Amino acid sequence: MTAHVRPPTGGLRGVVEVPGDKSIAHRALLLGALAEGRTTVTRFSGGADVLSSLEAVRALGARAVRDDDVVCIEGAGHDLGPSRPTTIDCGNSGTTMRLVAGIAAGQPVAVLLDGDGSLRRRPMERVGEPLRRMGARVETTHGHAPLTVHGGTLSGIDWTPSVPSAQVKSAILLAGLRARGETTVHESVATRDHTERLLTHMGAPVRREADALRIQGGTRLRATSVELPGDFSSAMFILVAALVVPGSEVLLRDVGVNPTRVAALVILERMGAAIELRAHGTRAGEPRADLVARGCMLRGVHIGPAEVPGVIDELPALAIAAACADGETLVSGAAELRVKESDRLAALEQLTQLGVALSPRPDGFVIRGRGGGPLTGATIRSGGDHRIAMAFAVAGLAAPDGVTVDDPGCADVSFPGFFARLAALGASVEGQCSA
Ligand code: S3P
Repeated sequence: MTAHVRPPTGGLRGVVEVPGDKSIAHRALLLGALAEGRTTVTRFSGGADVLSSLEAVRALGARAVRDDDVVCIEGAGHDLGPSRPTTIDCGNSGTTMRLVAGIAAGQPVAVLLDGDGSLRRRPMERVGEPLRRMGARVETTHGHAPLTVHGGTLSGIDWTPSVPSAQVKSAILLAGLRARGETTVHESVATRDHTERLLTHMGAPVRREADALRIQGGTRLRATSVELPGDFSSAMFILVAALVVPGSEVLLRDVGVNPTRVAALVILERMGAAIELRAHGTRAGEPRADLVARGCMLRGVHIGPAEVPGVIDELPALAIAAACADGETLVSGAAELRVKESDRLAALEQLTQLGVALSPRPDGFVIRGRGGGPLTGATIRSGGDHRIAMAFAVAGLAAPDGVTVDDPGCADVSFPGFFARLAALGASVEGQCSA
């Protein structure tokens, strides 16, 4: 199954609503399960990753009912945990696996966490180590899934993760919620702070002092309502699509603009894009805005290690912007991209098939952009990675002969309806589309 994406006649035009935020959805489901009372999550995307967390919540013993884009969870409070040893299939979702490991550490019944081939290749000792230090027994398979968490009585720790990671930070904070005493996580480079915001919103404040985040064990969570904002990481593919197609004007409605998520906007501005941001308030602790992007000429930029954690999911889309831009773009300090859903640095090397000069580096790449010139048509392998599939589909909008992407259905992991939305904006999309 493939999708063939070609430029529109004229620009991309229209209004888009992207699916609800995936990162916040995982947290709303899992914290809802740990809370007392009923938590309601709205604008739930139904993407494969968040469905993995929904199944995990049920396997852990909370009742959760989904009706289209609304999910209601009856929280089990600090007693959350299965009554007998349980296997949880986390599918493709690293966030589900790592956050559930943190929750499973705080309850006494063995939980085995497994996932698909991609997830089984991703590093899990980064959560195993701190959870063991807190008192859980965690067995990984040579550092990977399947892993078993035998939880129980935990003690707070003071921990500095080996790599900046919101998933690791969140796993430790969730374990810390049910631990004795205080848990501290140090973060020298900020990563997305949705867990801290939602814990605080639900009555378990996370205190930030310089680089330290602290949570007090034993605090009870209050159930809440979470209306998810649009997912900025999904919006990013549409933003770049609008920027690289001359004559485009696209409005993205109600997108989450949490400052720890939108560093890519700053980079796009440096590249010469003028993206209009119309803020409209904060709900459930998360700020939101409408975004307007118009086609324009971009220029190459440098993206260094300090910026990478803030754009970790946006780098594939930024690479496409760089391929269309005038001049050189250098990305360094991004070795973490090699252990995402695929080795994304290796996957992006396929830009050379589109006529783009790309020099790979162990921790990044240098791209010499086509300066608004056309990309060459090609067939690209997504490797089952949703963000690679969507990035190259966007590249197709700058290739007169189009780009063919294999396994386009993998976009459903985070962005159900991605290809249909591109088509609604005027792109030519042929073949198998996502739902
Ligand atoms: C996520 C954190 C990021 C990101 C992932 C979602 C999260 O990973 O790449 O897609 O929801 O916490 P790390 O910060 O762990 O690298």
